[in-house]
Amino acid sequence: MDLKKIAVLAGDGIGPEVIAQGLKTIEALNKKYDLNIELENHLIGATAIFKTGQALPTSTLDGCLKADAILLGAIGDPSFDNNPDALIRPEQGLLALRKELQLFANIRPVKLFPSLSYLSVIKEQVLQNVDLVIYRELTGGIYFGQKEKNTHSASDLCIYHDYEIERIAKLAFEAAQKRKRKLTLVDKANVLESSRLWRRIVQEMSTDFPDVTVDYLFVDNATMQLILNPSQFDVILTSNMFGDIISDEASVLGGSLGMLPSASKGKNSKLYEPVHGSYPQAAGKDIANPLATILSIEMMFRDFNLVAPANDILSAVEHCIDQGILTQDLIRTNPVKCS
Ligand code: IPM
Ligand code: MN
Repeated sequence: MDLKKIAVLAGDGIGPEVIAQGLKTIEALNKKYDLNIELENHLIGATAIFKTGQALPTSTLDGCLKADAILLGAIGDPSFDNNPDALIRPEQGLLALRKELQLFANIRPVKLFPSLSYLSVIKEQVLQNVDLVIYRELTGGIYFGQKEKNTHSASDLCIYHDYEIERIAKLAFEAAQKRKRKLTLVDKANVLESSRLWRRIVQEMSTDFPDVTVDYLFVDNATMQLILNPSQFDVILTSNMFGDIISDEASVLGGSLGMLPSASKGKNSKLYEPVHGSYPQAAGKDIANPLATILSIEMMFRDFNLVAPANDILSAVEHCIDQGILTQDLIRTNPVKCS
């Protein structure tokens, strides 16, 4: 098989612990199927700041540019969260990596495992048939617009260009065509000019995808609908900031943020990471849920067209869930350790 290079960026907090389990998964399948996978570790985030003074060292960026895929753990450290004046922040590493690799589409599938639905704070009958995917724009909007900091004011510009909306909308429409053929644009077009641009472009593009039903929701309503009637959604398309917020919200449907994988795609690179953050309170305790990382590797393998190994991962995860082999976020009695 062709050589596949994976850059591994464990990062901060529980990142190294969940990544260690992901690597066990990769190594086991590498052996079983002779996948010819090569792993290379790199620093990012707070860990990188403490060791090199930079959140995204040049060697990390170079390693990622050369890799066929990137596996990332988590970024973030409480010592920076409570210091608004810190000049270098761990998150800058991830944001710079997304920008440099032009990872403009962040894909976050929310698929529920039926035997876990009793764990959700949402009623079981509401969760039936929930199967949605969020297409979050990842390299634009308020995250990357011009920032200003003055003594008595501060601002973050939310700017979107037509091409930034078109390229992710195209991926979202295509995904909808292969799924339940429904696309929901989540925006705030009743207030924001940038949202009205999203709406106009998606309206225009919808004529090229006549088989896809398009729905438009304001983000405040969408957050409510996600809890009241989540099965109405198929593909959710949204901007960077709204996508960040609603993907954490959507994770609650499945019972734990520890289950949600993601893929970020751009021109040439692909990055896979669990949606949960660095969860510093759990770091070093071996209690974190590694399933989001393992399911992110399943997404990676599907993109590599390694169907059998990807199916193996999914059935192993389903087996753990069905047998109650679960970490403490999912089960009270006899939880297993992350490792
Ligand atoms: C995520 C995270 C990041 C984001 C942070 C760590 C910068 O919350 O991937 O959802 O806000 O995009
Ligand atoms: Mn987030």
